[in-house]
Amino acid sequence: MNLIDGKATAARILEQLTDEISTLPYTPGLCVILIGNNPASQTYVNAKIKACNKIGIYSELIILPETVSETYLLNKIKELNQDKNIHGILVQLPLPKHISANKVIETIDYQKDVDGFHPINLGRLAKGLPALTPCTPKGIQELLKSYNIVTEGKHCVIIGRSNIVGMPMSIMMMQNIPFANATVTVCHSKTQNIDTYTRQADIIIAAIGSPKKITGDMLKEGCVVIDVGINRVERGNKYYLVGDVDFESAALKASYITPVPGGVGPMTIAMLMKNTVEASKSIQRHY
Ligand code: GUN
Repeated sequence: MNLIDGKATAARILEQLTDEISTLPYTPGLCVILIGNNPASQTYVNAKIKACNKIGIYSELIILPETVSETYLLNKIKELNQDKNIHGILVQLPLPKHISANKVIETIDYQKDVDGFHPINLGRLAKGLPALTPCTPKGIQELLKSYNIVTEGKHCVIIGRSNIVGMPMSIMMMQNIPFANATVTVCHSKTQNIDTYTRQADIIIAAIGSPKKITGDMLKEGCVVIDVGINRVERGNKYYLVGDVDFESAALKASYITPVPGGVGPMTIAMLMKNTVEASKSIQRHY
């Protein structure tokens, strides 16, 4: 079994980005908007801002109360769309129930949509055109590339169909490009007998948000296991993180496996930084 070290891979990518940013004639800028006080979202947002500071991206963090109106938020986004110092806009999800995530995403200028969630970016991705693409799937593909994992013609089983991970991941893995070209199956909450699919998987990408759901007995010998889950589990009065995969039993079957933490998580942040630099370069070209 080989451990896929996302932390080290992300650190290498951040170093390369630091060098690239230092050669740019302007400073790329990212604005992150956090609404409410969800502890997991607070942690993610802080990590994103910290990464910006580390590599030389200008960052703004806007924290709004849970009760903020949709109109206020949409107007804020419209202001940021016009802001020449900001090349990337990220609104941390999930949002309070009274705010439409679709409206928020569609209000962001697609050229500043560093999450890759805007219908224009998603549509372009689906057609194989250049686009800003979602950070977690992009980070997973980058890990497969870093470890030179053969994906072509392999059966890739994705568990979860979320707009953030499962759905864009499925589009990426079936593209006719290197480190994709897989036969893709998407399982979700209504799939019956999930283990009949997981047992056929050469590559399994677990993104369901349920702790230790995928166990070793559900896997084929020698498969590649990518664990997207970051579940906060309480033990005593302490929180710790576990993935969607039961690492101990899965590691006995897998040829490659990502740990939690230190697997996919750091790659998501590295790809957000990469998208911000990419967005800034294409926006600068248009000035
Ligand atoms: N919430 C969980 N993951 C993400 C992400 O990648 N982007 C945003 N905006 N919110 C998230």
